[in-house]
Amino acid sequence: MNDLETILAHAGCTGLSPTGDLVDPIQLSTTFQRGIDGSYPAEYSYTRSGNPTRSSLEDILARLEGGHSACAFASGMAAAAAVFATLPAHSHVVIPDDVYHGVRHLLAEFGTRWGLSYSSADMTSEESILAALTADTKLVWVETPSNPQLQITDLETVGRICRQRGVTWAVDGTWTTPLIQRPLEFGANYVVHSLTKYLSGHSDVLGGAVVSAGADDAERIRSYQTSAGAVLDPFSCWLTMRGLRTLAVRLERQCESAAAIASHLSSHPRVVDVLHPSLVTHVGHQTAKRQMRLYGAMISILVDGGAARALEIVSTTRVFQRATSLGGTESLIEHRRSIEGPASVTPDNLIRMSIGLESSRDLIADLDAALST
Ligand SMILES: Cc1ncc(COP(=O)(O)O)c(C=O)c1O
Repeated sequence: MNDLETILAHAGCTGLSPTGDLVDPIQLSTTFQRGIDGSYPAEYSYTRSGNPTRSSLEDILARLEGGHSACAFASGMAAAAAVFATLPAHSHVVIPDDVYHGVRHLLAEFGTRWGLSYSSADMTSEESILAALTADTKLVWVETPSNPQLQITDLETVGRICRQRGVTWAVDGTWTTPLIQRPLEFGANYVVHSLTKYLSGHSDVLGGAVVSAGADDAERIRSYQTSAGAVLDPFSCWLTMRGLRTLAVRLERQCESAAAIASHLSSHPRVVDVLHPSLVTHVGHQTAKRQMRLYGAMISILVDGGAARALEIVSTTRVFQRATSLGGTESLIEHRRSIEGPASVTPDNLIRMSIGLESSRDLIADLDAALST
């Protein structure tokens, strides 16, 4: 098995093209020829159930996470929905207090219609996780660092609890990628990704994936992917593989800049708190140090004043772009609560930043200028 950096550098370059292409071509065909005996000689029949370009991406994702196999979906939320939709009827799900708001919304609006119930737990506390479990709990959903408050969940603790209780658990790996954290090594059953973020890496692809550790889970997710049909299209698969080829250098540089920016902001008089696990003052620093190879490139800050002050700050940046999302080459800044909607539990003085590939000196100067308004 090669190092992850080597797998990444060769993503989408299998060398199997009959015309000798170094980079595999995109295979757009929606359907595939049958043999005269009715068989499918190349194993593919119809792109919703399988496509060579998608298979290529799925194989790489499974190798990167050390899973049995992966299924690529049309978005990160389509991937998350696959995990919830394939639970047994009347399952109870535990989600973090602080979680990507789309996951909470999906369960609140639609999970309940499918017959799922859910409750939230403070995932930084073993007592809180244990208290949230019921006899019907079939899934614990983990996000670490969490979005947007960067709480750190101890993967070893969740792994132990779920093993003892016979509960399946899934980790949203969007903010970390397998280069930073590999949840299947801690016993997780699924890693879910929004490919939209670091993995594709250029803010021009919407995609998602579920990597399953075990064959049975993998088969159920595959069957759901084919039936529900929210598959990732071949062009997006190809673009994601192009992004993967540079992930290691992008992410390393983004994490390095994020740590420098977090350290700078932690002594800024107009910043009440900096939420980044690289800081020794972060309550989850020791856990993060144990389970993360790098501390990630997302930072949230709490500024002095409320929503109006936070909105004023984000309205004046010039290098940081005002937009939601993360993981691209350009740095993004946003007042988080106002995008999360009425159910948001995010503090209204929280500003979330995705650190890109610009010079960290320019980014720090931009933030200093915005904070001094
Ligand atoms: C942690 C996390 N998970 C899932 C998603 C959803 O991904 P997508 O927008 O690709 O559906 C996001 C999107 O911001 C996210 O930040």
